[in-house]
Amino acid sequence: MRISKISDRISYIGVNDRRTALFENNWPIPYGVSYNSYIIKDKKNVLIDSVEFGSDGEFLKKIETVLGGEKLDYLVVNHMEPDHSGMISSVIAKYPEVKVIGNAKTFELMEKYYGISQESFMAVTDNQEVEIGESTLKFVFIPWVHWPETMVTLDVKEQVLFTCDAFGGYGTLDGGIFDSDYNMEEIFLPEMRRYYSNIVAKYNQMVTRAITKLADTPVKMIAPSHGVVWKENPQKVISLYADWAASKSERGVVICYASMYGNTARLADSIGAKMAEMGVKNVRTYDVSRSNASYILSDIMRYKGFILGTCAYNTFMHPMMEHLCNEIKIMAPKGKVMGIFGTSGWNGAGAKALAKFAEEAKLNQVSPTVEAFGAPTAEKVEESLNLFAENFVKALDE
Ligand code: FEO
Repeated sequence: MRISKISDRISYIGVNDRRTALFENNWPIPYGVSYNSYIIKDKKNVLIDSVEFGSDGEFLKKIETVLGGEKLDYLVVNHMEPDHSGMISSVIAKYPEVKVIGNAKTFELMEKYYGISQESFMAVTDNQEVEIGESTLKFVFIPWVHWPETMVTLDVKEQVLFTCDAFGGYGTLDGGIFDSDYNMEEIFLPEMRRYYSNIVAKYNQMVTRAITKLADTPVKMIAPSHGVVWKENPQKVISLYADWAASKSERGVVICYASMYGNTARLADSIGAKMAEMGVKNVRTYDVSRSNASYILSDIMRYKGFILGTCAYNTFMHPMMEHLCNEIKIMAPKGKVMGIFGTSGWNGAGAKALAKFAEEAKLNQVSPTVEAFGAPTAEKVEESLNLFAENFVKALDE
């Protein structure tokens, strides 16, 4: 049974999930994910969030072990998504006296998801403080990071901020609990960026608002509900999230293509080679039928430019490109430079569909579209490719 101390008063009782293949049944997690939960022992004992139902057969035993025969006074629910709220009913069943701390929206959702009665609820307001003995808990609402009810909880004495989804990332805690226990560049930081692009990026504005709201909160440790506890360098994760929320990007281009017989793939490589010739060092090319959108979105968020290409498919774009476009529309990236290419037998339907998508998604499309009927030979595309590359790299550097 894994229980780790993050301070004298606070224990980590989370769990590693290496069994789930797709987070939210959508995003691949080859390095797994952790559901973090914590117990603060004070005059009043507090459980901060729970874990996904079924992910940890020992969860209740862990609570019992940490409490050592004492009662559980409070269960703080920072976020109601079931990867954190899944064990609430089981906790209440075992500790019927527990008061569940949340806000009005939390309890609306708790009723809907679990049918839990109002008797156990203790609703707090934004910035309210609740004394628990040596320390006090302060609750700060950060709506839409990433549901409407989301809030963070500060242990005022130790300045530990429990943030649930905010400042989290994919990846299990294979060794230690803290950022200082890992070479963060290896897995956690890339996985954190991918998590942000997949789950959080749609709510960039709300993330910026939350970071601004928390700016004056003294924080020694950030304890999210996915990924490492930031003890050595909590400012690092705040600044990464702030940069991502502000749509800061690196000089580079992501080329994504859907191709049935190799023609659009060849055109993608011609565009990549041209970008390199023009001095773009970061060029990442993806076949959308092979690479999950999760990884592509992460790179689209990372780099300033992206270029989408498709073969015509019936009278539209290829279905796998349509899937990516839908995910891009949801993520709604800002400040990007975007280009389009395509191949078709006769009607250019794929590239036309991409242009319509770019317009609807309010993307800044660089002209011209690079297009070929049939095989994309150098003669057919040279002129448009040269002009496109010149315009695109210029826009990249603006
Ligand atoms: Fe990790 Fe929005 O739940």
